[in-house]
Amino acid sequence: MTAASGSPDSEAQISVHWREEDYYQPPARFIAQANAADPDIFRRFDEAHFPDCFKEYAELLSWDAYWHTTLDTGNAPFWKWFVGGWLNACYNCVDRHLAADRNKAALIWVPEPEAEDTRTITYQELYRQVNEFAAVLRDFCGLRTGDRVTFHLPMVPELPVAMLACARLGVIHSEVFGGFSGVACGERIADSGSRVLVTMDGYYRNGRLVDHKAKADEAVRAANELGQQVDRVLVWRRHPGRYTSQTAMVDDRDCFVDEVLAEHRGAVVEPVSMPSEAPLFLMYTSGTTARPKGCQHSTGGYLTYVAGTSKYYQDIHPEDTYWCCADIGWITGHSYIVYGPLALGTTSVIYEGAPTYPDTGRVWRIAERLGVGIFHTAPTTIRMLRKLGPDEPGKYDYHFRHMTTVGEPIEPEVWRWYHDVAGKGEAVVVDTWWQTENGGFLGSTLPALQPMKPGSCGPGVLGVFPVIYDEDGNTVEAGSGKAGNICIRNPWPGIFQTIWGQPERFLQIYYQKYCRDPASTDWRDWPYFAGDGAVQAADGYFRILGRVDDVINVAGHRLGTKELESAALTVEEVAEAAAVPVVDELRGRAVEMYVALKPGRDAGEEIEDSVARAIEREIGKIARPKNVWIVGDMPKTRSGKIMRRVIAGISNFADVGDVSTLANPEVVEEIRHRIQREK
Ligand code: PRX
Repeated sequence: MTAASGSPDSEAQISVHWREEDYYQPPARFIAQANAADPDIFRRFDEAHFPDCFKEYAELLSWDAYWHTTLDTGNAPFWKWFVGGWLNACYNCVDRHLAADRNKAALIWVPEPEAEDTRTITYQELYRQVNEFAAVLRDFCGLRTGDRVTFHLPMVPELPVAMLACARLGVIHSEVFGGFSGVACGERIADSGSRVLVTMDGYYRNGRLVDHKAKADEAVRAANELGQQVDRVLVWRRHPGRYTSQTAMVDDRDCFVDEVLAEHRGAVVEPVSMPSEAPLFLMYTSGTTARPKGCQHSTGGYLTYVAGTSKYYQDIHPEDTYWCCADIGWITGHSYIVYGPLALGTTSVIYEGAPTYPDTGRVWRIAERLGVGIFHTAPTTIRMLRKLGPDEPGKYDYHFRHMTTVGEPIEPEVWRWYHDVAGKGEAVVVDTWWQTENGGFLGSTLPALQPMKPGSCGPGVLGVFPVIYDEDGNTVEAGSGKAGNICIRNPWPGIFQTIWGQPERFLQIYYQKYCRDPASTDWRDWPYFAGDGAVQAADGYFRILGRVDDVINVAGHRLGTKELESAALTVEEVAEAAAVPVVDELRGRAVEMYVALKPGRDAGEEIEDSVARAIEREIGKIARPKNVWIVGDMPKTRSGKIMRRVIAGISNFADVGDVSTLANPEVVEEIRHRIQREK
């Protein structure tokens, strides 16, 4: 059995090209109150001031001990930030706000059912809950500094509570996106070596109460099969006092958190002072192999970076009601729902459910009711709201001053709807380009000081110096109109420290391609390879075209083609599998699976169905393919590699280039006929 291997340029190649767009200027009202309104900030963060410029961000935090070295490059490219510094991330996000703001809302949680009450959690209440849950983790589960714990939690306030409780203890949290399957969660439990899983019995999505506990049992089973024992499963109840799942609790393993908490009422757990370089959390993402990568983020550098970028790029003020409508199960939620906004002591809104439930006015109703001033979401949500409820925003009395888009390229016409209709032309919009690995923004406009350009994220952010290289490492000049690989020439505090347990892969994936000298300890010799194709306009703004590696970005979710193909190969009849991206009106990209069967097996709808179900089981519903095509053979090179790029070309009705050197060029026409007939 084989899966398609190593064909670059999957997404970038099928990207559309558009003309240069006109600039939009930030409204004067925004500039008048912006956190960064003095252009002198560009001088303070220019290359001559690197790396000490980032002290300005670090000083937003409370340190137990100051660092002696801003950036230690001794073990390049395993960069160390603020070495010698000590701090606690939970203290910075909770305790230090108590003196002045104990009664201010830290979190406002909006449940999906509109009949259920919104829950406001003040900083004082958050402090209480975090302390009590930290006591559970420490005293009941026996977790200690440096241990890992996996969460498989949906969009409920218990998730930030659990994250902050870990941070308080120096325990490393690893949240797996709630929409992922139990099997996917189990793999991540095993990879991180967690012996405790924190989950919830159910949650609401699109009007349905999802039985989430069932996934915990699958996760524990999958982890066991990979050799990882799970001793404890802590189950929060969506309706405290009432169990909402059909799945039985397992004796001696599963406990209801509310019952255990009853033993720890009023507990106070001192925050553990941690070295700046201590890992704060792992966030798994997809890459070029089937094994997910646990991106390890630091305490001091990460928190510094998300606090700084939240202040200057999200323009968060302590008195704001800020709503990032992303999932905390992804890096955006970690950085820009939890750590960044809470480090700045603002009010962060969490919404449990789907943005279009029960109708397309929901998001705008929430914004109106809570008085949201800053709104943050992804192009997929914007496309959906624009298509299904184009005139809804005008019906609600809300006023954003700042809006963000993140996670995927945004088409200029979608951007304009976001700005003109969703934002009522009153708000500044930032398009922020970055990745799970990066901790925080890499490319964006500084909202009061740099004009917006639809479809472009903007230049590198403060202190971050991107460049586009061709395959040989030559710089592709701005304004040349040529695409290449976007890289970052320098480290920044939010960069991940390594891939958990796989330092060689960290080096190989992100640094090997453009490293100038593997023995060098000078950061200038270690450009970071981001894995995205991009074009830089003459004004320095970048337009991100999409992944150049084996990753497909579906509705802002990163899916590894190898993971998809491995899942398809679990179907008995399947001999070969190739996953390719296709352009999708709403989700940006969708997955199409091509499979070839073992000899003697008949193609049929049942097999197409089995492949789709296998992908849901192994990864989750978000990965379900748009189509499964059973083909007689795959286009292959003479050495037998499946040419995913050629298949993607066919699927997108694009030019597939010269195929005469393939081992079997005739199958290209066969597949093309079939697809064109049936699509
Ligand atoms: O291809 C880029 C795309 O999303 C990828 C990173 O995905 P993930 O690690 O899940 O993080 C998403 C949220 C930070 C990138 O390699 N991407 C992210 N932001 C943008 C984007 N593409 C275009 N424009 C963006 N603003």
